[in-house]
Amino acid sequence: MSSHAHAPGGFEEAETPQEISRRQWMANATIAISGVIGLTLAIPIVGSLIPDVGAGGAAWIPLDESGWKQLQAATDTPVHIDINLKSKDAYLPEQSSPQSAWGIKVKDPQKFVRDRSDLFGPGGKDMLPYPIVNMGFVLFSPICPHLGCYYQWQGQQNRFWCPCHQSTYDPNGAHTGGPAARGLDPLPLREQSGVAQCEWIRYAPTIPDRLIVSYTA
Ligand code: FES
Repeated sequence: MSSHAHAPGGFEEAETPQEISRRQWMANATIAISGVIGLTLAIPIVGSLIPDVGAGGAAWIPLDESGWKQLQAATDTPVHIDINLKSKDAYLPEQSSPQSAWGIKVKDPQKFVRDRSDLFGPGGKDMLPYPIVNMGFVLFSPICPHLGCYYQWQGQQNRFWCPCHQSTYDPNGAHTGGPAARGLDPLPLREQSGVAQCEWIRYAPTIPDRLIVSYTA
């Protein structure tokens, strides 16, 4: 019979040190096993959230042709280009949602690297897993990295400006004022068989680092 059976009077007898340590061992083993199960589940989930951007992991979406032509002809003015996101899941038919991106022509790549030190490491190395400047252009997500509003171009002030909390960015997308913690977020861009395409990535708002929260798959 167990030594901690009920004693007369309804009190539990004190457990022996061996019993205490066995109970602790069981508790620790349960925590360790749940941890392993949790990790086993979490690794594929987290892994599935990290796209192999620039290498075919995320879907490439064509840029509106006239917008792309306008960007190619542009001099100093950023160009607002339409894109048509298509999303599909197991239960719903394919959905289209109109989106856009801002394209700029990079006339002075060295100045761009200097202005956007948040995007380039030592020696001007891209800090994102895809080329930031492509064919002499950069495409920015239209979403303000502060809290996700859509910013606008203000030609007279030569800047991007967000109407929600007044964050401002220079023509190269560098953060110049307001509460945003980083500059504008570049999107992967490429040309395939004469069609310009981009990948749609959403980065986490508010923080200085670029953490992917979603992308078109
Ligand atoms: S969402 Fe753009 S400044 Fe706050």
